[in-house]
Amino acid sequence: MSQEKKLGVIGFPITHSKSPIIHHYWIKKYNLNGSYEALEIPPDDFTVRIHVLIEGGYTGFNVTIPHKESVMDLCDEIDDAATQIGAVNTLVIEDQKLIGKNTDAFGFIQNIKTTQMDFDFTQGAACVLGAGGAARAIIYALAQEKIPQIFLANRTADRAQALRQDFPNIPIEIIDWDKKESILPNANLLVNTTSLGMDGLTPLRIDIQGLPRTALVNDIVYTPLMTELLKNAQAQGHPFVTGIGMLLHQARPAFESWFGIMPEIDDALIKLVSE
Ligand code: ATR
Repeated sequence: MSQEKKLGVIGFPITHSKSPIIHHYWIKKYNLNGSYEALEIPPDDFTVRIHVLIEGGYTGFNVTIPHKESVMDLCDEIDDAATQIGAVNTLVIEDQKLIGKNTDAFGFIQNIKTTQMDFDFTQGAACVLGAGGAARAIIYALAQEKIPQIFLANRTADRAQALRQDFPNIPIEIIDWDKKESILPNANLLVNTTSLGMDGLTPLRIDIQGLPRTALVNDIVYTPLMTELLKNAQAQGHPFVTGIGMLLHQARPAFESWFGIMPEIDDALIKLVSE
């Protein structure tokens, strides 16, 4: 058998990461020789620790909060998605070079494309709630899919302005957080990219009655799977997509870049990560 590939996810804290479950599942399913660990590394130790891991034989990592931006300084190469999003979530070590990638945009789009096959991104505007790291990946993804217009609402207006400046070629209109309902009648897609609605956190309060009934609703929060937003969307008869698929799909190209196999998502895996 080939030499074991050592992989892991780097974050701080890292205990809640589902990435080890996903990658272990695929390593077993495809009968590969690999390991994948959760690696807790505090920010002030980051550069030294990552080099120690690489010297210890690690050939790839996922990178999560709070390291997604700072890791870019260590990369020898960065792909287009990561450059434009301004964050790296996947590292591949090849010939002693650190290659940074971002697979979150892919995860977002594939989650929608595989569950809502008839959805056409070009047919109308998207309303995006939030302007953090996840929103950046999603706006990049929506631009790739040629969305005609984005309405962006964020509690902190400055962050929304900064995001718009970083994507000058995308038509982004900023809406006051308190007036987000006002643009729903013009939306074909509503995406919550904030952490609101996550178990134990503040709920997301939004009245979606103004949203056209054909509009697709997506929440990137996946604990719980059916957030209040999605429950309301379902009750109103909207097509909707849960957040678990983005997590699963973003993992696929990372796995492929380490093992050369594009893994499939099956029901057993969905069940495993939903537990
Ligand atoms: P991520 O990388 O997961 O996107 P983040 O960069 O911390 O995480 O972004 C979190 C998002 O949730 C932001 O849009 C944040 O709004 P602010 O930019 O105003 O902080 C949003 N968010 C978090 N808590 C919120 C709250 N209580 N009310 C409104 N928005 C909130």
